[in-house]
Amino acid sequence: MPTVTTIPVTRTTASRLPDFDPDHIVFGNNPTDHMFTARYSNGSWGEARVEPLHQLTLSPLALCLHYGQTVFEGLKAYRLENGDISIFRPYKHHSRFNKSLDRLCMPEVPEALFMDALHTLVSLDRDWIPARADSSLYLRPFVIATEPRVGVKVSDEYLFMVVALPMSSYYAGNLKVKVETEFVRAVEGGTGAAKCGGNYGAAFYPTQKAKEQGYDQILWTDGKHNEFLEESGTMNLMFLIDGVLITPPLAGSILDGVTRDSLMAIAREMGIVVTERPFSYHELEAALLAGKQVEAFGVGTAAVISPIELIGIGANQYKLPVTDDAVLFQLKRRLQDIRLGRVADPFGWNDIIPAGE
Ligand code: COI
Repeated sequence: MPTVTTIPVTRTTASRLPDFDPDHIVFGNNPTDHMFTARYSNGSWGEARVEPLHQLTLSPLALCLHYGQTVFEGLKAYRLENGDISIFRPYKHHSRFNKSLDRLCMPEVPEALFMDALHTLVSLDRDWIPARADSSLYLRPFVIATEPRVGVKVSDEYLFMVVALPMSSYYAGNLKVKVETEFVRAVEGGTGAAKCGGNYGAAFYPTQKAKEQGYDQILWTDGKHNEFLEESGTMNLMFLIDGVLITPPLAGSILDGVTRDSLMAIAREMGIVVTERPFSYHELEAALLAGKQVEAFGVGTAAVISPIELIGIGANQYKLPVTDDAVLFQLKRRLQDIRLGRVADPFGWNDIIPAGE
């Protein structure tokens, strides 16, 4: 249920909504009319407000620009068929947000502030949520270190913001991916489990190289052995081999994905055996060579479920037929039905903002 909001709101006088075309959404460059901001200084959060989307004023000395104290989340709001709005699993996203903030020595955001920020912004910009079933409103909460100080230190000042962007599919089609055995994304004890900007920036170089070779994404392997599959850039990984769902475990170097967690629960509900365990690319290759039934897919908030149709392992490439009756589509349908309120929500995942509120 929505919290009672106390955040002051200044409405835009020049909405861009009339220019928004929900049938041709490019992800990431079309924010809604408003944004949320709050400032942290002297040990507490204050100055929370929702205002028309605007540019930031930031000192060139701001610590986030130099030493990477930035943390973000990604979650979605949906327009339900009865007119209500639902935010999907905001409490789990909030808990992960705070874990990431802790890892980067940044101050936690109280749950009430996080929820208030989301509810106020989503209620105000609800008309931006596309009515199409394949679309949603992507919410991007993030915190940056703003203290102006070039010395290497933990910032004493921060800015917490939320922006919102309508979206449809993140990837245009099925994915071609490469098992990466030269570069690593994270090692145990590092920041791999945190959703911090540096993890994504550091992945650009190997991902660009993979793209030059014709791939869309990388399947990262572990930092010690370069052998066990971890995650894929923007997504967690799942494999279905002879009917068993396998996903790499949360061993400290991969993100605790909310979609990953939701799909494991749905798979168990559907009677599928789910195993979280180390899974090496050698085992994957052996299964492919043995002609086993293999489905591979990336799962994440933005990507939802993205089927993998080709995997490059060393000099070899393996094609995975993605058929309409694949289990991954059954999982996706069930997840979407719950998110869109077409069926009961047995897990209590939908945080409802009633129509008209
Ligand atoms: C998400 O799925 O929300 C992500 O953060 C992945 C990507 C858009 C950075």
